[in-house]
Amino acid sequence: MISFEITRFGEVDSTNEHIKRLMAQGAPEGTVVIAETQTGGYGRRGHVWSSPQGGLYLSALLRPGVYQVIDQADLMAKLPTLSLACGIAVRRTAVGFLAPRVAQDVKLKWPNDVVVRTEAAYRKLSGISLEGTAEGLCLGIGINVVPPSSSKAGKEVYLAELTCSGECPSVEKVSDALLTELGAIYNTWLDQPFLHFLSEYNEHNVMSGRRVSIQAGQGTIEGEFLHIDEAGRMMIRTEDHGVIPIVSGEAHVLGIS
Ligand code: BTN
Repeated sequence: MISFEITRFGEVDSTNEHIKRLMAQGAPEGTVVIAETQTGGYGRRGHVWSSPQGGLYLSALLRPGVYQVIDQADLMAKLPTLSLACGIAVRRTAVGFLAPRVAQDVKLKWPNDVVVRTEAAYRKLSGISLEGTAEGLCLGIGINVVPPSSSKAGKEVYLAELTCSGECPSVEKVSDALLTELGAIYNTWLDQPFLHFLSEYNEHNVMSGRRVSIQAGQGTIEGEFLHIDEAGRMMIRTEDHGVIPIVSGEAHVLGIS
């Protein structure tokens, strides 16, 4: 099924932008761009993604429609679950470098952040974006691997801080491991329903059993997080409206930072 064709750069504006340019020129499924630094890295909702040396910045061109195994109508219906499945690939990658005691604190935060509990707070290890254009999909993944020398304690956590010896795998090792996990997950996602991944997603979901607040559209919804359903929606029990599905929005877990 998918195989990756990787090009590595020193510095680019954004690996996502680079992939979208290649996509417009007809580059094939599996084209991957990795950069050591980005001058214009960005995240979901246009947030700046700070991209100093020591992080993994990777984008991949996906065209799931090219495969016969998946019907076009089914593909459109399951597309919202692709970035959740990619979150599982990133979590598996990180956990592969960690001792079990630390690995259990690596969590998924809907829709597709990977966060780690450190002392009282959850901090972000990785962010994932998925952009669709007429020509295909651009998957963007940033993983904090080694902290930059100037870094102050912030909202991020770095893989290097989590390994027992403080010794960290190289960014290249992390990218190799990520592409292995990503390839396996993507191939499974193409021919299995998202239900196949659901228990793993829910088991490691940081929101399980917690009160959450979700900014969706112009409003905010508060309630108890129940689980992610087979369509990748967040099921929330609210006081006024019972259990409602949330398709998109920015989720905050109340009571933990
Ligand atoms: C988010 O958490 O908001 C998603 C962050 C995605 C960042 C990655 S880094 C590689 C790729 N290039 C970009 O400009 N963004 C993505």
